[in-house]
Amino acid sequence: MTDTFSSKLKPVILSGKEVLPIVEGGKGIGASNGRSAGAFAAAGAVGTFSGVNPDRYNADGSRIDYVYQGTTRRERHEELVAMSIDGALQQARIAHEVAGGQGRIHMNVLWEMGGAQRILEGVLQQAKGLIHGVTCGAGMPYQLAEISARYGVYYHPIVSSMRAFRALWKRSYSKAQEFLGSVVYEDPWLAGGHNGLSNSEDPERPEDPYPRVAEIRAFMNEVGLNHVPIIMAGGAWYLKDWEHWLENDEIGPVAFQFGTRPLLTQESPIPEDWKKKLLTLSKGEIFLNRFSPTGFYSSAVNNQFIQELRGRSERQMAYRSAPEGEFTAGIPFGPRKRLIYVTPQDAALCEQYIAQGFTEMMKTPDETVIFVTPERAQQIHTDQVECMGCLSHCRFSNWKDHDDFTTGKKADPRSYCIQKTLQNIVHGGCVEDNLMFAGHNAYKFASDPFYNGGFIPTVKQLVDRIMTGA
Ligand SMILES: Cc1cc2nc3c(=O)[nH]c(=O)nc-3n(C[C@H](O)[C@H](O)[C@H](O)COP(=O)(O)O)c2cc1C
Ligand code: SF4
Repeated sequence: MTDTFSSKLKPVILSGKEVLPIVEGGKGIGASNGRSAGAFAAAGAVGTFSGVNPDRYNADGSRIDYVYQGTTRRERHEELVAMSIDGALQQARIAHEVAGGQGRIHMNVLWEMGGAQRILEGVLQQAKGLIHGVTCGAGMPYQLAEISARYGVYYHPIVSSMRAFRALWKRSYSKAQEFLGSVVYEDPWLAGGHNGLSNSEDPERPEDPYPRVAEIRAFMNEVGLNHVPIIMAGGAWYLKDWEHWLENDEIGPVAFQFGTRPLLTQESPIPEDWKKKLLTLSKGEIFLNRFSPTGFYSSAVNNQFIQELRGRSERQMAYRSAPEGEFTAGIPFGPRKRLIYVTPQDAALCEQYIAQGFTEMMKTPDETVIFVTPERAQQIHTDQVECMGCLSHCRFSNWKDHDDFTTGKKADPRSYCIQKTLQNIVHGGCVEDNLMFAGHNAYKFASDPFYNGGFIPTVKQLVDRIMTGA
């Protein structure tokens, strides 16, 4: 770090105001909320509350659980949309109050969230003056520009490649240029949460973000977006490591988004156990997996929850409904004991799994079966039946939020209900038994001297620390 570091780290204009070049990453469900977002804004930065099924409160401040009356998935989906709008509005008001007129407040939505467009519009209709920008990733949110422009708020698409931004620009964003607040580049190998790795990218071979972001900037300059900041998300910890990005024409105006570090602050809404666990992680414990019902890769801690999912996928074999080629060994499937056919080697494995207690077979959409315990099979079934349609397409339950309301595929027992587990972990459920999203760098909590002795900073202290570069 040079002496000039702090002078190089310039404020940027985001969503119409000059702010520190630090952005809180939006985190669903409830892992960034009005209180945390307000604190970032109050510190002169950008706070982002999650608009994904946000918490709602009674007048006395107690939390109102998401409880569903509907008997069908469609009915529950409608309830979820209404409750999400209500929750997001409550969080927006809290953020606005806490911010005290400082910084900027953004709302984060996932385009793959069920009813995303309706929720976004429902919130923006009623949140005038409370929300300055919308960040949106997971999918290709073409309509984001038009919706945001209609309500006079800035939009901040999250992309992981120049190609994705170029497609969004050409088809849609070029028509609503003045409200494009920034382009968020999310490193698909290092960022916490869902990751936008494309089929041509190898999850095992991380790529340097610099040339990828420089490519985005080159395209942005080509279409006259020289002044629009890029927000670098994923893998940022010490800003001293990013000094070569500052005052650099290949990158242009830049800010840094932090998703993992804000989890460990006083204002962070996650429970104490989760915060404590963050202080103990080591490098190999956070990795990319492909179990999410969205179909995206995601970065999470390899806890018992992930290990159980890995076990399901490992205890997996191809089958055929009738004998075919090497699929000659008949094994009884389901309560009616109808035969399905596997290879003789797999038939031997099947006996082993059953002897180990994994006595229930479940079919996947890929002509395979997995082996689980009866309790697990029951839980998977219950979770699928209780689906409330939180995603636009769900691999786990085969729910789709439009047309005929089904993906047309078999429900996939190798995945899980992300709604249930994220609600659980943020509301005090066991951190080992639930999905614990984390960025690749989360292991740095254990070695960064800032956190010595289990120190948990306020958001303001974190922002000040980040601004020093160290
Ligand atoms: C627990 C957790 C939940 C997240 N949830 C979301 C989300 O709902 N929407 C989103 O756009 N990004 C989400 N992210 C990504 C962050 O907003 C941010 O871009 C990312 O964490 C930055 O990388 P870092 O983890 O290296 O700080 C999540 C990240 C974490 C750690
Ligand atoms: S099964 Fe769970 S994750 Fe899938 S759509 Fe339903 S509520 Fe969402």
